[in-house]
Amino acid sequence: MSDQYSVLGKAPQAEDLKKLSSSNVHLKISNLSAGYGKMEILHNLDLYVSKAQSLCLIGPNGAGKSTILHSIYGFTNIFKGKIEIDGKDITNQTPAEKLKNYGIAYILQDNSVFPDMTVEENLLMGGYIKDKTEESYEEAEKVLQKYERLRNRRNQPAKVLSGGERRLLEISRALVMKPSVLLVDEPSIGLEPRYIQMVFEILRDLQQNEKKTIILVEQNAKKGLEFADIGYVLVSGETAIAGKGEDLLNNPDVGRLFLGG
Ligand SMILES: Nc1ncnc2c1ncn2[C@@H]1O[C@H](COP(=O)(O)OP(=O)(O)OP(=O)(O)O)[C@@H](O)[C@H]1O
Ligand SMILES: [Mg+2]
Repeated sequence: MSDQYSVLGKAPQAEDLKKLSSSNVHLKISNLSAGYGKMEILHNLDLYVSKAQSLCLIGPNGAGKSTILHSIYGFTNIFKGKIEIDGKDITNQTPAEKLKNYGIAYILQDNSVFPDMTVEENLLMGGYIKDKTEESYEEAEKVLQKYERLRNRRNQPAKVLSGGERRLLEISRALVMKPSVLLVDEPSIGLEPRYIQMVFEILRDLQQNEKKTIILVEQNAKKGLEFADIGYVLVSGETAIAGKGEDLLNNPDVGRLFLGG
C-alpha cells in the first residue's frame, strides 16, 4: 500500500500528513487559517516536513500555494493556528526574526538581483541582516567557491548573467544566511529546459549534501514531484491530496489534472 491520501475518500488528516514526514519533524504547521487583510485564503491547514526533506506544493492557480510560503515567512495575516520549528512556536515572529533566529529563508525571484551591482555584492546583500559583516564575506566566499558559474563573474555586474545563472544567484544569496529551511516559489519559471535541470540539481545538492529542508511551489508539477520527497495538492486553500512525490506522479487524478495526461 502506498502512503497516499486522497480527497476522493476524504481530505488527508494531520496524522496522515505526519506519516509522510520522518520522525524528525523540522517545520510543522497546525490548523492554520491565514490570508490577506480580512480575507481567509488558507483554511485549517496542516503541514509536516522533516530536516533534509523536500515538499512540493502543487495545485491550480489561486489555490493558495504561494500563500503557504508567505505565511511561513510572515507576509500574511494569521487568523488561527500555529507554525513551529523544532517544536518552537514561531507563528508571530517577523520575517527578519525567522531568517536570523530560525533559519527560514524565502528565495526571492522575478529578477530580484540588483543588475548594476556585481555578483559578489549581490551575494553580500543576502547577509545584510547579519550582525557581523565578516560572516557575510565568509559565507559569500563559500558560495563563490562552490559555484564556478558565479565565481567566474564575481566582479561583473549581475546584469551580464544568463537567466539560469541569475536564478542560481537568487538561490545562493539566501545561502549567505546559512538557512535550514528554503522556501522556493516556482524555481523553474521563465527558464529554458537546460536551466530548469540545473536549478533542480542545485536544490537536490542543497537538500542532500547540506541537509536543507526545502518547501517549493512548482507550476511544472511533473518536475516538482520528481524532485520532492512529498507532495501536497492544494485546492481552494486546503490540502486535497498528499503523498510521496513518486506516488503522486502515478496518481491518475493528479495525472489528469496536473500532469497533462
Ligand atoms: N497580496 C495579496 N493580497 C490580497 N490577496 C492576495 C494577495 N496575494 C494573493 N492573494 C489572493 O490569494 C489567493 C491565493 O493566491 P496564491 O498566490 O497563494 O495562489 P497560488 O496557488 O500561488 O497561485 P498561482 O499558481 O497562480 O501562483 C488568490 O485568490 C489571490 O488573489
Ligand atoms: Mg503562486
